[in-house]
Amino acid sequence: MSRKMIAGNWKMNTLPSEGKELAEGIISKVNSPSCKVVFGVPYVQLPQIATLTAQHEGFYVAAQNTHHEEKGAYTGEIAPAMLAALGVNYVILGHSERRDYFGEDDVLIATKVRKVLDHGMQPIYCCGEKLPVREAGEHEQLVGQQIETALFSLSNDDFSKVVIAYEPVWAIGTGVTATPEQAQSMHAFIRAKIAAQYGREIAEATTILYGGSMKPANAADLIAQPDVDGGLVGGASLKVDSFSEIIAKAN
Ligand code: PGA
Repeated sequence: MSRKMIAGNWKMNTLPSEGKELAEGIISKVNSPSCKVVFGVPYVQLPQIATLTAQHEGFYVAAQNTHHEEKGAYTGEIAPAMLAALGVNYVILGHSERRDYFGEDDVLIATKVRKVLDHGMQPIYCCGEKLPVREAGEHEQLVGQQIETALFSLSNDDFSKVVIAYEPVWAIGTGVTATPEQAQSMHAFIRAKIAAQYGREIAEATTILYGGSMKPANAADLIAQPDVDGGLVGGASLKVDSFSEIIAKAN
């Protein structure tokens, strides 16, 4: 099965009417993609977009977060069972914005990963270093540690359902992209780390996305790298043309 995936992360953008127009526009422009296409949409648009993607092969819907408890007195939060009940396929977890603005760490993210899997959905686990860490040459060590803490207590079966997104924080929303070589080098490191823990077969089947200012102009070179299986796309996922073009590069 192909590892290729292009996932959009709409973040806190789009009104429901705009989201509907965006998703419908992309679906009609791309029609039968050969990679998986995922829309990571705001909570309130999940019912609408889940209904839409369920009718179109190759298209999936992701939530951008979940709470880690089953249910209870957590005012304003959304439980994993609620997402699953809507037909959500993937949940983006550990995005750097959640780590930075909401204080999430890998111990917490590990509990969210567990819950997402328990409810039959697939995590898109985000990891990545900030600029000073890269400048100090400690990026592999940091990303390795993030992945170990958040994911390596999973069974082989559970780990096989995880999608990893390497997103160097210095490239997110900045217009600065990692070079294809930088991305490939980190992705190869991550795949080797997975192989050491779970074996070659699982490592070879794991989807590892790159994220951070991916756009039509740089997507092809990034996705051409042997260990870069697609992208988690923020800004460029908010326009029909740019997101469709990125999907076309992956196809
Ligand atoms: P960007 O965001 O493509 O706008 O850099 C990527 C992300 O945050 O997932």
